[in-house]
Amino acid sequence: MDESLPVGGVIRKMWTVEAGRYREHLLRLDADSRRNRFGGDVSDEFLASYAALAPNIDTVIHGFFVNGTMRGAAELRPIGAPMAREAEAAFSIEQPWQSHGVGSALLARTLLAARNRGITSLHMACLADNERMQQLARKFDAELRFDFGSTVGEVATPHPTPMSVAREIVADSHGFATALLDVQSRLLRPA
Ligand SMILES: CC(C)(COP(=O)(O)OP(=O)(O)OC[C@H]1O[C@@H](n2cnc3c(N)ncnc32)[C@H](O)[C@@H]1OP(=O)(O)O)[C@@H](O)C(=O)NCCC(=O)NCCS
Repeated sequence: MDESLPVGGVIRKMWTVEAGRYREHLLRLDADSRRNRFGGDVSDEFLASYAALAPNIDTVIHGFFVNGTMRGAAELRPIGAPMAREAEAAFSIEQPWQSHGVGSALLARTLLAARNRGITSLHMACLADNERMQQLARKFDAELRFDFGSTVGEVATPHPTPMSVAREIVADSHGFATALLDVQSRLLRPA
């Protein structure tokens, strides 16, 4: 997949056992990023509970990892009835890694995952004054339809094809190798 990421960074799907890493990432968000991500001020306790509940079987979370630490995340969460084909997407990137193309790469992965799950309508919970998120969405004009009149954008994702499914499998196999290396290097690190 064509992604230009900061040196040493990788994007891969998060495993459900990695809820702790997700919590640490959310707790490192600065006040503005927290507000933009959650639509208001939220406490550390809220973030801890959220991170524990967020990874579930229906939710796809892509993480941006640098040296094994999660520095960014994109959630794709189905909403409504199981066959409703609607989902919500939300992004969080820690301040030092913002404006380096990570959000663009995470949105590309999220759109691919949405497409392969038959999701036709993707809502992005985004505050009306969040210029950067709106700029980011505009970059994907060809793949999504956005209404900036409201705080929620609508994305029209095309149908899955064998090629789009293959692209996700290839991206996942790279991510799997990286995750294993990550675990190995932590096991080999002196205590
Ligand atoms: C919003 C967010 C996801 C964007 O991710 P990012 O990695 O910073 O964005 P990118 O570097 O991929 O840039 C995407 C586009 O935004 C625009 N952009 C980048 N930095 C910007 C800035 N400081 N101000 C305004 N627009 C900016 C550019 O158009 C850029 O595209 P380009 O570099 O090709 O010109 C990220 O900044 C973030 O997590 N913010 C805090 C939480 C949040 O706002 N979440 C969104 C609500 S769910």
